Amino acid sequence: MFDSNRNLVGLDMGSSTIKLVELGKESGKIKLLSAGIVDNPVLELKDKNTPEAEEKLAESINEACKKFDIKGKSVAIALGTTEVIFDYLRFPVLNEKELAHAVRLEAEQRISSDINEVSIDYMRSGIKDKDGQENILLIAVSKEIAQKKVAVVEKAGLNPLIMDVEPLALLNCLLPLSDEPLKENESIGILNIGANLTNLSILATGTVPTVRNINFGSDKFTSFISKETKLSWKEAEQLKKNTEKLKQKISIPDMLEKLTFSFINELKSSIEYTHKRSGESEECKHNRITDPRIKKIFLTGGGCFILGIDNFLSKNLGMEIVRWNPFEKVQFSRSVDDSLKSMGYLFPIAIGLGMRTV
Ligand SMILES: Nc1ncnc2c1ncn2[C@@H]1O[C@H](COP(=O)(O)OP(=O)(O)OP(=O)(O)O)[C@@H](O)[C@H]1O
Ligand SMILES: [Mg+2]
Repeated sequence: MFDSNRNLVGLDMGSSTIKLVELGKESGKIKLLSAGIVDNPVLELKDKNTPEAEEKLAESINEACKKFDIKGKSVAIALGTTEVIFDYLRFPVLNEKELAHAVRLEAEQRISSDINEVSIDYMRSGIKDKDGQENILLIAVSKEIAQKKVAVVEKAGLNPLIMDVEPLALLNCLLPLSDEPLKENESIGILNIGANLTNLSILATGTVPTVRNINFGSDKFTSFISKETKLSWKEAEQLKKNTEKLKQKISIPDMLEKLTFSFINELKSSIEYTHKRSGESEECKHNRITDPRIKKIFLTGGGCFILGIDNFLSKNLGMEIVRWNPFEKVQFSRSVDDSLKSMGYLFPIAIGLGMRTV
């Protein structure tokens, strides 16, 4: 999982908040050595894509490292959703060199931008399906965007060592910490509702993970509250975080009902797609699993704080959806502020990154 001799810092640069963690291992258990969360200063800026905005972001990462006593300098970061293209490919089982070549050729067909401006990576399922094909997850990243992120991290005085993608970082947090080892005929997922975007990652039997980025986030709730109560955006943000007061001003179930129609539909289609793909593998056929159901989806991200959202999603998707705080699964070192424990819902990407091998 990670090299215990070096502390790799997991850095999640969310559009609303920046999260940092530094993990270690003690007697086989994962230990949180330091961690912290700060607002993304870019949020306050009108133009979010200027060199000044990057400067501000780098400055606040640097300050956060000092404030939270982050000692490591090597960092793992992730590209968010809009910055990555995911696609699913199927090939006869090939050796690594042949597969790399085949994936590149296929990517050239599928990706509209110049292939030389894109970094291509892939993940293989390692299992043949009923037609003797192997499922491959194609991951394509714009080199320019990746370089911009790297530049910010370097400007913050850190050394960007690993570049991951958010949906896979989520699985890297979920799998070792969920206490629910994946059985052969089951699938589990993690749904991370951020401020602007939602990541869904589902790990199903016999295939590569299904990853989806959905254009939905907790900012939608803030806009709704602001409109309904005639409060400013900032005031609405504060009210959103105070459930008792919020309940008196608006109906939270109505808000959920009104804002989530297309979100729920997207989730349903992603889940159906996963069921379909995982039912295809030879392993599933062998075990007579034609439709391996998703056992549970773990709910994280700032959007999961909305009262009743877990039950609302469970009811609409017809499966168990539970809020999940990964900080309850790691040991806190004495120097880490205990009050951070209740904020663990915001940290799965940072944790997944912090656990990458150096
Ligand atoms: N206690 C709380 N109650 C309600 N909402 C909260 C609470 N704390 C944070 N949020 C909301 O969660 C969102 C931030 O969550 P998160 O840190 O997961 O997003 P992000 O990673 O910055 O965004 P994105 O991934 O979309 O770029 C904000 O919309 C914020 O208002
Ligand atoms: Mg996020």
